[in-house]
This record gives sequence, C-alpha cells and structure tokens, in this order.
Amino acid sequence: MPRKMTRYAVVGTGGRVTMFIDPLATRFNKTNQIVGLCDTNPGRLEYHNDRLVSLGHPRVATYLAKDFDRMIRETKPDAVIVTTVDAFHHQYIIRALELGCDAITEKPMTTDDKKCRAIFDAVKRTGRKVRVTFNYRWAPGPTLVKQLLSRDIIGEIIHVDMEYLLNTSHGADYFRRWHREKDKSGGLMVHKSTHHFDLVNWWINSVPEEVYGHGRLAFYGRKNAEKRGLKVKYSRYTGQNTKGDPFALKLTDSGYMLDMYAKTEKYDGYIRDRNVFGDNISAEDTMSLLVKYRTGIVLNYSLNAYLPREGFHIVFNGTKGRLEYNEDHGMHVIEGSKKNSSPEGHDLNWESRCIVHPLFGRPYRVEIPKAEGTHGGSDPLLAEQIFSPKPPKEKWGRNAGHEQGAASILIGIAANQCFVTHKPVSIAKLCPQLGNRKKLSELK
Ligand SMILES: NC(=O)c1ccc[n+]([C@@H]2O[C@H](COP(=O)([O-])OP(=O)(O)OC[C@H]3O[C@@H](n4cnc5c(N)ncnc54)[C@H](O)[C@@H]3O)[C@@H](O)[C@H]2O)c1
Repeated sequence: MPRKMTRYAVVGTGGRVTMFIDPLATRFNKTNQIVGLCDTNPGRLEYHNDRLVSLGHPRVATYLAKDFDRMIRETKPDAVIVTTVDAFHHQYIIRALELGCDAITEKPMTTDDKKCRAIFDAVKRTGRKVRVTFNYRWAPGPTLVKQLLSRDIIGEIIHVDMEYLLNTSHGADYFRRWHREKDKSGGLMVHKSTHHFDLVNWWINSVPEEVYGHGRLAFYGRKNAEKRGLKVKYSRYTGQNTKGDPFALKLTDSGYMLDMYAKTEKYDGYIRDRNVFGDNISAEDTMSLLVKYRTGIVLNYSLNAYLPREGFHIVFNGTKGRLEYNEDHGMHVIEGSKKNSSPEGHDLNWESRCIVHPLFGRPYRVEIPKAEGTHGGSDPLLAEQIFSPKPPKEKWGRNAGHEQGAASILIGIAANQCFVTHKPVSIAKLCPQLGNRKKLSELK
C-alpha cells in the first residue's frame, strides 16, 4: 500500500521558513509534501519556490495572503506552518484550525493577551492541535540542564537568575526591521524572551503567576544617539556612504539579503536595513523582570541588546545546591553549530559551561554534548520530531502545544503592560484559560 503523504501549507516565506521547508523537501520527502506557499510578498514566494526546485522538490502553488482560505481549499493540507511576522501568527493559526488543519507555529505564538485568548478559544471550538516550535529546548546544553534538574541533584529549586546578552551584531539586527515595532513583534520581551521564558518554565516545570519589571529604550533610536553626540545621517544603510559606521548592514553585500529583501522591497516596502538610530522605534532594548511562579520559585531576569558579547548565564539555587549554566555565542551563533569567532574574526575559543555546586560538596563540571546543525543542533532534532513518520520517543517533554506557548509569551505580555502601568501583572488575569495548574507539564 502506498504510504500516506502528510501535506503542509506554509504561510510566511521569509528567512526562517527554511527550517521547515528544507527538511520537508529533502530528509523527510518520502512521507511529506509541501503543497502551498503563502505570503504578502510575491517576490519572496518566488524566491522560495525556486529554492524548493533547487532542493529537488516540485514547484508548488503560491498564494498571496488575501487568498489564504483559497490555498487551504485548493491544496487541502493536513497542517499549516506559520512563519510570518509575529503579530499575524494568530490570524493564520485560528483560520487553519477553523478550516480543519492543525497548526505548527514559530515562536512567539502571538504578541498580546487578546490574540492569545482567541487561540485558546479556537482550539476548544475546533478540537484541532497547535504546536509551538521552541527549538531552544532541543539544543544539547539546555537539554542537559533539563536532565540534571530532573535528577534532583540540587534538590527543590527556590530561585533562578538569568541574564541574557545580545550583542551589537545580533541585538542590533532587531532594530533594523519589523521587530523594532512593538505592534509587529511584541517587542523583545515577547519576540526574543519567549525563548528564555519558555526554557525557564520548562526547566523548573512551573507556570508563571505574576510579573513585575522595568524596560526602556536606552541605547538605540535617534534620541539616545543624539544624546551621546552621534549624528544620524541616513534612515537606512544600503546606498549610503556608511564608512566608519559599525552598525551598517548593506543588503547589496550578501546574495541572500539582496534576493530575499532588496529585490522584493518594491512589492511591500519591507525595509530590512533601517538605521538602528532612526525614528519610530517602540521596542525596548533594556529590560529587567521579576517573575513569581505558581510553585513559589522566583526568577530574576534581564535582557540587554547592545552589548560587546552575546550569550547567557543562568543560575538555579536549590535546597541541595546550585547549578550554573553558561553559553557564550560567537556573533549570534549558538555554541555547537559553528566554530565560534568574534565579529572581528578572532578565534576566541568560546565555550559553554555547566557546573554543579552541591551544598557542602566539591563543585564539578558536567560535559555538554556537541550537536551539528543550526541553532546549536536544535533545528534538525526538532524537524525530525515534527516530520519523521516515526520520531524518536521524547523523554524530556520538549514538544510544546498552545498552552505551553502561552505560558511563555504571557510573561513578556505582562512585562509590556507593567512597563506602562508600573504595577505587577497577574498571568491568570491575562489568560484565565490556563486555569490554576501549577506545573508546566500539566499544560498541553
Ligand atoms: N525559533 C527561532 O530560532 C527563530 C528564528 C528566526 C525567526 N523565528 C520566527 O519566525 C518568524 C519569521 O521570522 P523571519 O526571521 O523569517 O522574518 P522575515 O521578515 O524574514 O519573514 C517574515 C515573512 O512574513 C511575511 N509577512 C508579513 N506580513 C504577513 C502577513 N500579514 N501575512 C502573510 N505573510 C506576511 C513577510 O513578507 C516575510 O516574507 C517569526 O515569527 C520569528 O519570530 C524563529
């Protein structure tokens, strides 16, 4: 009997979509099929259709965003993969469910609490499934931390401290395009920190309860630049004399940027290389939070997006000891995916470290396994889990549905509210559908 092919339609054909369509077109093409691509930009649709052909996949039908429903009717997918700009995820997730498909969405699941509640309602109404692709859970370091914490080596966790550092390469890049507009991305608290909040929720197996914090735009943007005596001479970099500007990104310097963003700009005016010191930036670059969890644990978290180096460190303090985990990233590449180097190209021999300090015992280091592939080897493992007809049995609870997707974004959404009101924000009030379950593993 011929094997049943699983059919996928994809909405949002920008940079990230390759993580889904490339494995579908190659490693997993015996049991899967891409049946349609959808985007607001016909240029990027063609770009990815050409790439599919170069990977050996047949050309697929393409649809503009306004024809999303027609795509579903005509191509009859089993699931829709959502890789659009964050603020539009909910539209496609909900419509996919209503039209009888499951949805697989990139993080963040969505950008505000109203859209989040609407996704819960759609899941309830339709009985369909949403998967949120938290690839960071699948990286070898974070998986090791989960394994160690599950073995109770530091006892009951009481307190967590996490500092995430974005540098002037990767961090700045969020201020060159749509991520800098909070109505498109939810700001870095939602767009970026959703990864970090998800990791913490999953590591400590707890649901967040209350959030308090401060955030501001302190480094990027015209006002901050001019305060430091910098003159802002152009609103974008390509086509300008940017000599001596370390933040300049020329779309003409890379074939990928040229084809994906410069040549397609005429269709929708998406400018990929805006000056990080330009106007109309609504996202913060400096954020500090306190998150209280339903199990009593408190997380102290910060994210700064303009630093000389990139990576993060996290500390778990427990009743039997302390676990310290550190990742240093060269550029924005996560340890393990490439030989890391500083932006100047010097080999700085970056490494990640995991150290356990037992109470009254000798501290010891735990070796972190290496993995191949993008995002520290997490992307290929996640793709296998989603697309393989027989995925390896998952022992660490790394698959996440809409409820776990919500538990992560709601911290960022609460933080955004708190930045305005300066009052603590209750997660249960933002999303009553989460109920009063305490453990993350109790959520779908
Ligand atoms: N998990 C990860 O490591 C990771 C990494 C990068 C991006 N992402 C996520 O992937 C998603 C896409 O990010 P990207 O870097 O590819 O961005 P991108 O800007 O390169 O691509 C976004 C695409 O969405 C399209 N689009 C915009 N508005 C649309 C609409 N209303 N309807 C349909 N399409 C629309 C754009 O034309 C563009 O082609 C984001 O949600 C982002 O958070 C995740």
